[in-house]
Amino acid sequence: MTMKLLSVASEIYPLIKTGGLADVVGALPGALVEEGISSRTLVPGYPSVLSRLGKAKAVRRYDDLFGVPAAVLSAKVEGLDLLVLDAPAFFAREGGPYGDHGGNDWGDNWRRFAALSRVGADIAEGTLKGWRPDIVHVHDWQAAMTAAYMRFGPAAAVPKVVTIHNLAFQGRFGADVFAGLGLPPEAWGVDGVEYYGGIGYLKAGLVSADAITTVSPTYAQEIRSPVHGMGLDGLINGRVERLHGILNGVDTDIWNPSADPLIAKPYGARTLSGRTANRRALEKKFGLDRDDGPIFIIVSRLTWQKGMDLMIAAIDHLVGLGAKLALLGSGDHPLEGAFLGAADRHRGRVGVQIGYDEPLSHLMQAGGDAILIPSRFEPCGLTQLYGLRYGCLPVVARVGGLADTVIDANEAAVSAGVATGVMFAASDPLALHGAIARVVELHRDRAVWQAMQRAAMRSDVSWHHSATRYAALYRALLAEAA
Ligand code: ADP
Ligand code: GLC
Repeated sequence: MTMKLLSVASEIYPLIKTGGLADVVGALPGALVEEGISSRTLVPGYPSVLSRLGKAKAVRRYDDLFGVPAAVLSAKVEGLDLLVLDAPAFFAREGGPYGDHGGNDWGDNWRRFAALSRVGADIAEGTLKGWRPDIVHVHDWQAAMTAAYMRFGPAAAVPKVVTIHNLAFQGRFGADVFAGLGLPPEAWGVDGVEYYGGIGYLKAGLVSADAITTVSPTYAQEIRSPVHGMGLDGLINGRVERLHGILNGVDTDIWNPSADPLIAKPYGARTLSGRTANRRALEKKFGLDRDDGPIFIIVSRLTWQKGMDLMIAAIDHLVGLGAKLALLGSGDHPLEGAFLGAADRHRGRVGVQIGYDEPLSHLMQAGGDAILIPSRFEPCGLTQLYGLRYGCLPVVARVGGLADTVIDANEAAVSAGVATGVMFAASDPLALHGAIARVVELHRDRAVWQAMQRAAMRSDVSWHHSATRYAALYRALLAEAA
């Protein structure tokens, strides 16, 4: 019999995306179909979501959901079976999903995402006519309270999985919001929503979950330590028998160099020469000189997590070695300014586009030689997976999912023909310098470089293996509950 899964999240590609979370939430349902699992995904009714719904049906109405009227709409969009929480007072806003254009968080985020989670728990309790999930899987702090609402309500026995995509974002609020959450008094406390005297949404989810997953095996280990645990390592160590590290995959239809409408010319592992047209288009787009030096690309949020300050300090070195850099990103204003400054200093060698541009990110993977990812921590990371698939070799810090997905070009790996990228010690400026120099060196040897590109493009970055692991976990939880 088909297993019915309710997934709850604050982003879903292609309707609303600020990062990898959206890619994962958008791709996993399709991958689970092969495992005999049918998913519906509950997401907030942001303007960009509502405008894509087309024919939608209201399957539940609320007169008073945390003080506002709301409806749950059911719709199919791009193969996704969606439940959309249409609560205009909460979600019909100009700006991003979590804050205004200026980057300030919305003051009522506690209420917006408690509402999303409350509705998730209601659905788990069977309030939709004709559909009740066997299992509930929620993502990050914005949806984590679903597990807490379930645990303290009639759906306590329905298995609940909480996935950590990034422990740096925990959804912490003051103790005063507790009264507004509609939870019973026993939900307060160290075994409930209380967190260092306030309230922690992710924390509440982690103590309530039947299984905790995170998006790579290495990150699952790292978050048990104080450095990466960010205050939650104690709790996570206490529940370690419930913790699973399952790698993300990528949607191999959307990210397919041999049939990608967003690139200048399609190519495959046997037709690598097709990359040249993409390289030319990339050089043109970023105003880069036409020569043989390797083109490094960066497609990233510009933040401390991503090691972008380390990157700025490495640009002169990169240019000095005859390489070029094309960067697409947005984030912290001082970092944006510093990259724009570097582009000014190194015309023809460094090109920078500040902003968010999904199509351009495809062309960069197709035309670039190597993608730089110097993250201080990285739960999984998706851009290195796109890089592998496109033969744009990942140059990555040895942390989290980066360590789990790239094979460093050491002597043994190169001679065995299995190397797919370059790895270096995280948070270490000299190690980053060294890695850039190694890439320039490797790139000079066309035979070695192309062998690495082919090995990279052979890597299995699909969802197949991970979907099997999620399915096995769901089945184990259902067996335990029965
Ligand atoms: P994170 O979620 O931490 O930002 P991931 O590597 O998991 O990191 O996912 C980032 C996703 O966002 C990838 O799909 C990447 O291609 C995309 N992305 C990041 N910045 C940009 C940008 N400026 N323009 C287009 N896509 C971007
Ligand atoms: C988070 C992490 C990133 C991961 C993504 C999807 O945004 O920062 O490493 O790939 O979630 O799981």
